[in-house]
Amino acid sequence: MKVLVIGGGGREHALVWKIAQSPLVTKLYCAPGNPGTAALAENIPLAADQVDKLLQFAYENKIDLTVVGPEQPLSLGIVDTFEAHGLKVFGPSQKAAFIEGSKAFSKDLMKKYQVPTAAYGVFTDQAAAEEFIKQTGAPIVVKADGLAAGKGVIIAQTCEEAIAAVSDMLSGNAFGSAGSRVVIEEFLTGEEASFLVITDGKNIIPLASAQDHKAIFDGDQGPNTGGMGAYSPAPVVTQAIHDAAMELVIRPTVDGMAAEGRPYRGVLYAGLMVKDGQVKTLEFNARFGDPECQPLLMRMKSDLVPVLLAVASGDLGSAAIEWHESASVCVVMASAGYPGDYAKGDVISGLDEAAQLEDVYVFHAGTASKEGNCVTSGGRVLGVTARGASVKAAIDKAYQAVSCIGWSGVQFRTDIGRKALDKI
Ligand code: AMP
Ligand code: GLY
Repeated sequence: MKVLVIGGGGREHALVWKIAQSPLVTKLYCAPGNPGTAALAENIPLAADQVDKLLQFAYENKIDLTVVGPEQPLSLGIVDTFEAHGLKVFGPSQKAAFIEGSKAFSKDLMKKYQVPTAAYGVFTDQAAAEEFIKQTGAPIVVKADGLAAGKGVIIAQTCEEAIAAVSDMLSGNAFGSAGSRVVIEEFLTGEEASFLVITDGKNIIPLASAQDHKAIFDGDQGPNTGGMGAYSPAPVVTQAIHDAAMELVIRPTVDGMAAEGRPYRGVLYAGLMVKDGQVKTLEFNARFGDPECQPLLMRMKSDLVPVLLAVASGDLGSAAIEWHESASVCVVMASAGYPGDYAKGDVISGLDEAAQLEDVYVFHAGTASKEGNCVTSGGRVLGVTARGASVKAAIDKAYQAVSCIGWSGVQFRTDIGRKALDKI
């Protein structure tokens, strides 16, 4: 069968890497892809949000299954458009992807279906928001309602900071129309985990546990990014936490979405805060996490394609996913300046050397080919991912590969996975 993966980041390189291993696949495309996916699939020069052109491509090339990586095309309704033309596609409909597209919607859904989450208010008015902030006190969290590439969340240490963040968002200066409504919520403490499931709207397959590292610097310091590294399994997700996440978060959300007339099909990603054996939901995403996808797929033993196809066909049935016992760690290497303005066009060295290492795969995220070189072209450039018998072994292997690779101003965290080691 012919498969099209939409997107061009590290997550999509990992999807392409995994899907390319399926004996069911005869031809694989990626749009727009990156120099990493080009080695495994045919890159198509269409951006992920060019829904009509992607539809035309899929239709003309008789694509049997399209897999959507990023949130923008989902929010634009790519799944509805493809399905209206009889094409099979893995991902939630526009109405279902709203669970990520609007934080206010997602919070109201959680409240209605009693999914544990932080106390909150939704505001479009500055004065009312200020009142709420003063009543609640700092630290307090201010979130742009709409999509903001993982950067629309401000953890304010003082009420003044929170009020300024609200004003920036409501005025449209930060995040444009995505900030015209804000969610303000109670600051939660604890340890985060990324809890992903694949669902057809009724049946649910939990994926292995994972943990992201959102802050730019070691020790979770500095501003949040799209994710500086991830590992799987995450020991913070004990069996009891897993059960609580399924019963209290995932099941009521999947059922709630169906009851709201927004049946959810695809990957549902719950960002959880775990504390004292309790889970609270920070957010939902309508897709695989990036970089969580990289270590998760490296640990997945089963063929992913039949599962994606079953969901796209509307019935997961008795499909199951097996995992390697091993652990996997992904260290993100980023450009100087990220998550702010960053440099581009620096020549990346050492990729061939890293590729020689066993149980290591270097997923490309923001790279480009230029005059025979691989150069940086995005904030997050590479996801250096390794598998090992233990988290410790996988960490050592990943950092061995990282040490081979370099460019001017490269930055990466040196503590990816350390929280897991503290627990073992
Ligand atoms: P979100 O996109 O809503 O998950 O927020 C991004 C990140 O901000 C989360 O992964 C957390 O690190 C942090 N965050 C979000 N909401 C809260 C909260 N209520 N309390 C503490 N940290 C939060
Ligand atoms: N790594 C966090 C995300 O994909 O949203």
